[in-house]
Amino acid sequence: MPIFYGKAALIEFLNSVKTLNSTIGFVPTMGALHQGHLSLMQQSLAENNNTVVSIFVNPTQFNNAEDLEKYPRTLDKDTQKIADLNSDIIIYAPSIEDIYEGKIASQDFDFDGLENQMEGKFRPGHFNGVGTIVKKLFEIVSPTNAYFGQKDFQQLQIVKKMVLKNNLAVNIIGCEIFREANGLAMSSRNERLSAPEREKAAIIYQTLLEAKEKFKTQSCAEVKNWVNQVFKSNPIFDLEYFEIADEETLISCNEKSKDKNYRAFIAVFVNNIRLIDTISLK
Ligand code: PAF
Repeated sequence: MPIFYGKAALIEFLNSVKTLNSTIGFVPTMGALHQGHLSLMQQSLAENNNTVVSIFVNPTQFNNAEDLEKYPRTLDKDTQKIADLNSDIIIYAPSIEDIYEGKIASQDFDFDGLENQMEGKFRPGHFNGVGTIVKKLFEIVSPTNAYFGQKDFQQLQIVKKMVLKNNLAVNIIGCEIFREANGLAMSSRNERLSAPEREKAAIIYQTLLEAKEKFKTQSCAEVKNWVNQVFKSNPIFDLEYFEIADEETLISCNEKSKDKNYRAFIAVFVNNIRLIDTISLK
């Protein structure tokens, strides 16, 4: 399985395998791979001649030093999982130096306001860090198609906006959320939960499903109040936000409008571990 730790060798390899109409599918990750990541890789394998997976814990998108320090780093296990899936997948696992060349800093982006909602409010600088790394990786890999999970729906919209504003020649493909048997959205951070916490965290998706039901007949404010109550009565959870927002602009819903597609978004702490999830309310 081809594995590269530096961009120069990766670019040389990609140039050598590229043919006139061949396509490159790209799955950017921060490692600690789970079934959700593997499903993105499967989709890329089915739709492209070559698939590149990057594994890089990007420091500039963390606004919390403890979260960055504790983020799981499991490169050996990750490469094994990829090899088991398909040994043709090309892995790029760069060092910080290979990416940032001595200057670990984010570029400043304007995502037309998408960056100021939800995750952007609670994680200042996060989306500048995401934009910076995704743009750098796109420049290195030159993918035809890039695959992102819908769990990070705001990130997906922001990456689409960046591609549009910078005229980048890559198709951004949003993929279904993968869930554990109890409904908890798969996330690398789930590894940090104890077994009972992981079981109890099922309440996040159950609440989203009920919120979706209630949204059929209730106002945005009523549904939001109900969700706030659910988490107040479950003290192991600390609800950071629950929002109902327009999928396009990510602006919070006050009055329901028939022409908009709404989506619910949630961020919850369990024992200092931050989990997010989302559901379409259509
Ligand atoms: O979603 C992630 O894992 C990260 O934000 C990404 C897109 C790999 C950028 O570091």
